[in-house]
Amino acid sequence: MTHDANHSHYWQESYTNGRIPWDLGHPTPTFARLAASGDYPPGQMIVLGAGRGHDARLFARHGFTVTAVDFAPEAVRAMQELNDPAYPVDILQTDIFELGEEWNGRFDYLLEYTCFCAIDPARRDDYAALAARLLKPDGLYIGFAFPIGKRPGGPPFVVQPDAVIELLTEHRFKLQHREFAFDSVPSRQNIEELIILQKQK
Ligand SMILES: C[S@@+](CC[C@H](N)C(=O)[O-])C[C@H]1O[C@@H](n2cnc3c(N)ncnc32)[C@H](O)[C@@H]1O
Repeated sequence: MTHDANHSHYWQESYTNGRIPWDLGHPTPTFARLAASGDYPPGQMIVLGAGRGHDARLFARHGFTVTAVDFAPEAVRAMQELNDPAYPVDILQTDIFELGEEWNGRFDYLLEYTCFCAIDPARRDDYAALAARLLKPDGLYIGFAFPIGKRPGGPPFVVQPDAVIELLTEHRFKLQHREFAFDSVPSRQNIEELIILQKQK
């Protein structure tokens, strides 16, 4: 039996009921720091499970060409409403696992925040394979391992940083940076770790 979280109606219900505790209402502070640092030159970026798109719009404002993907109609509607015509984000309503081959090797960056933990753990290997095929050689996977710890069930399903790094390493990624970020939002301090991995040629 597949988990409910594999289906868009599960997420759609949360959006329509206004129960979206993951939504910060603003860009993730750590991503804002990375975007402003100059260490990551603007390029093509895909944001998986983009939700209402705060992080997608952040990077678009910094000159990145951003494609934001989500399968919940209400998340997509919100992204369309909030989209800034001066720094537009391309918005795709689809299941990330159904992104076709035409998207392969198109991106310099893959950004994810609380998408990995939203995915049925049985699909984590598919997720890593998807990340590998979407990125160009040398492309960067930027995300948080969240929530670290122990709790039954999900979503969010617990995520152990070492396990994600190991999984991505099996899919031709190499760890470039990891950090318990000082600017994680207070409720997530110490239960999330920023991880940046590079896809090998
Ligand atoms: C926990 S929310 C995080 C949203 C956003 N990243 C944020 O931090 O506010 C997970 C999002 O991933 C989306 N999602 C989950 N599984 C998906 C899938 N297989 N394909 C596309 N979107 C998916 C959900 O609709 C939801 O918007």
